Amino acid sequence: MPHKIKVAPSILAADFGHLADEIQRVEAAGADLIHIDIMDAHFVPNLSMGPGIVEAVRKITRLHLDVHLMMDNPGQYLKAFAKAGADGLTVHLEVLPDPREALDSIGDLGLTRGLSLNPDMPVERLANHLAAVDRLLVMCVFPGFGGQKFIPESLARITAARRLLDLAGRTEAELEVDGGVDLQNAGSIIQAGADLLVGGTAVFKAADAAKAIVSLRGG
Ligand code: DX5
Ligand code: ZN
Repeated sequence: MPHKIKVAPSILAADFGHLADEIQRVEAAGADLIHIDIMDAHFVPNLSMGPGIVEAVRKITRLHLDVHLMMDNPGQYLKAFAKAGADGLTVHLEVLPDPREALDSIGDLGLTRGLSLNPDMPVERLANHLAAVDRLLVMCVFPGFGGQKFIPESLARITAARRLLDLAGRTEAELEVDGGVDLQNAGSIIQAGADLLVGGTAVFKAADAAKAIVSLRGG
């Protein structure tokens, strides 16, 4: 089945000194969503942004704000991110072995319910939660930093996640791939079943963001 491929530039790779211009630049270049990486220095060894940045970004663009919560206690902050203007919130299975309550809360807030897993978490662990998610986010690097190299074994995990969604009849749920996505590996990632590609370095550091987005989608 051909997937409609979307690209979500991650502003972690943007020039923070010119964030408004950077977002307008990738929007004009054809970005489908804006990916915002929230890091708490506990779940991941880095600090990045909070609801204040989401609120500021909300004023700049009408694109869907895809907020990736790399934090130990996402449940406490769902409302704050919703209020700030997020359209989708993605939580990690590593910190919420039973993510149901958080996913239901995200849905009750009217937002896209995302569930993510790190490269060392068995994909099968997603199986019980598929009915409660709108978006599965497969990490292809260990989260915390942009610009890392795609872990090749991730391709099999993307294929497995797609199979789980298909078997569960969740064909309308999105399969998002994040970390190390570039112009070389995007084709194989799409072939494996992804329909939403996060591109930090690949979009923001490209000489021509529009060309990069078209190439990531497969030309
Ligand atoms: C990694 C983040 C990613 C990252 C992607 O911890 O979740 O979204 O910003 O950046 P690139 O595309 O440069 O790997
Ligand atoms: Zn991310």
